[in-house]
Amino acid sequence: MFEMTPDLYTGIEQIDKEHERLFELAEETYSLLHNCVLLDKEDQIVRLTSELIDYTRSHFAHEEAYMKRVSYENFYDHYAQHKQFESKLAEIDFEELEGNPEEQDAVIESLLEFLASWLVDHIKKEDLKISMLSHPM
Ligand SMILES: [Fe+2]
Repeated sequence: MFEMTPDLYTGIEQIDKEHERLFELAEETYSLLHNCVLLDKEDQIVRLTSELIDYTRSHFAHEEAYMKRVSYENFYDHYAQHKQFESKLAEIDFEELEGNPEEQDAVIESLLEFLASWLVDHIKKEDLKISMLSHPM
């Protein structure tokens, strides 16, 4: 369901590898939504969200360091998008999830929609611009 298509590769090895991992996490989110065996998904939602928060934090730091290294002129616009992504993840209210399967699925669904559109849009519109600078990582 979620995988990196050839048009999403920047050609910068580390960034591409990290994007692949983000797609894997989106795929895990998709599987969790469609998991009918697991009745209480709270622990998995907490685990996935914390992994997403940690992983994007380090990935964004790598991208930002790269942009600085190549003196990328739109650094601050790009940086602002990373911050928006981080605050969206931080908005998830875990207290609502306890013992509430409907709310759990609703949260997974909105997380998934957000990841699906953000990942592809951000990579296409922003990350690919960095790669045009053709400097080695
Ligand atoms: Fe980015």
